[in-house]
Amino acid sequence: MTNVSSEARRLKDPPLPLEAVRAGFRQAIREAVQKMGATAPNPAVGCALLDGEGRLLAVGAHPAAGQPHAEVMALEHARQKGVLEQVRTALVTLEPCNHYGRTPPCSEQLKNSPVQTVWIGARDPNPQAKGGAEHLAEGDAPKNVRFLADEPEFRPLAQDCKALLAPFAFRVTQGRPWLTVKQALDGQGSMIPPQGQKTFTSPASLRLAHQLRRACDAVVTGIGTVLADAPSFTVRHVADHEGRAPRPLIVLDRQGRLPAAWCQAREADGFHVEQCRDLASVSALLGQMGVNWALIEAGPALLESVREAGLWDDWLTIHHEEHGGEDQLSITLRNGCDGDESPVQLLRRYGD
Ligand SMILES: NC(=O)c1ccc[n+]([C@@H]2O[C@H](COP(=O)([O-])OP(=O)(O)OC[C@H]3O[C@@H](n4cnc5c(N)ncnc54)[C@H](OP(=O)(O)O)[C@@H]3O)[C@@H](O)[C@H]2O)c1
Repeated sequence: MTNVSSEARRLKDPPLPLEAVRAGFRQAIREAVQKMGATAPNPAVGCALLDGEGRLLAVGAHPAAGQPHAEVMALEHARQKGVLEQVRTALVTLEPCNHYGRTPPCSEQLKNSPVQTVWIGARDPNPQAKGGAEHLAEGDAPKNVRFLADEPEFRPLAQDCKALLAPFAFRVTQGRPWLTVKQALDGQGSMIPPQGQKTFTSPASLRLAHQLRRACDAVVTGIGTVLADAPSFTVRHVADHEGRAPRPLIVLDRQGRLPAAWCQAREADGFHVEQCRDLASVSALLGQMGVNWALIEAGPALLESVREAGLWDDWLTIHHEEHGGEDQLSITLRNGCDGDESPVQLLRRYGD
């Protein structure tokens, strides 16, 4: 197997301004973040193409499973704009795939393009698809292959690419999705909304909550919340993905109290409702459904069980400011990593 870094050193690297790489990667990540929640079981991936002086020529993101990958989307945009021959650098949030799946390998498509340098945001954790970096760097017309994580000044961007990939990486390496808990607390530390209301947070927090619903592939809730609020769990406040497959909606309900009319209404709203009695089985169930990222929106009883069982990866707490100020948000990662590695942070940094 070719050693990527030695291969990269052997080739002449075009002297691109660091700021051009940084700005291009931000565009690629922004484009991919818009597609989070639409691509499962595939990851959300973005690609930006630059010319020899670092000017942005085209950006692409993988729209959905079975559709072209980000690199192909970006190359096609460049072709349509008539600038394909000017492309010299590709910035990809994920290592280009190296296998024939539903589409041909992206490493091959980049090899056959005018691209000379490929910057990679994160290595592919999927054993079936990895090896794209090595393939790009070998053969008669090798490309320069660079990794963001190798350059100290690009570490924050590498971390964003890692966060973007985290939900998919969890599913392919552990067979379960990334689990995000969203919990809103009022000034007294209570989760229960005032009588007659279903929520109490600020408009900005509400918007983030709906961005999160759109970005996630499934929702998990408890029967207590269903019976108290009859929530719709639909994406509002931001536009949802068009034509996406039904989102799984798992309700923890051990006593069979789930109202049939509520289930029918949710199915009509585009959910696939599943009653579940065993919290411990939820992650595997979601993994089998191809869910990369699931959002847990439940009341205090189920959240207590989730915390006790350690069935979460990041925990978003919205502390509501009751006197007109901005709500305070905190994100905790269960494995003790920096909150910056949470995919929720991407919605705050790059979301619409
Ligand atoms: N502020 C917020 O962020 C927020 C979010 C959602 C809801 N809420 C509020 O929370 C209130 C409802 O809270 P809640 O505590 O009654 O409801 P909940 O937490 O949504 O659901 C509780 C139910 O979950 C099931 N459950 C709990 N632990 C389980 C386990 N280990 N395994 C399997 N099932 C388990 C139990 O079902 P069984 O009874 O069948 O055993 C339990 O009754 C509502 O007022 C709602 O507005 C607030």
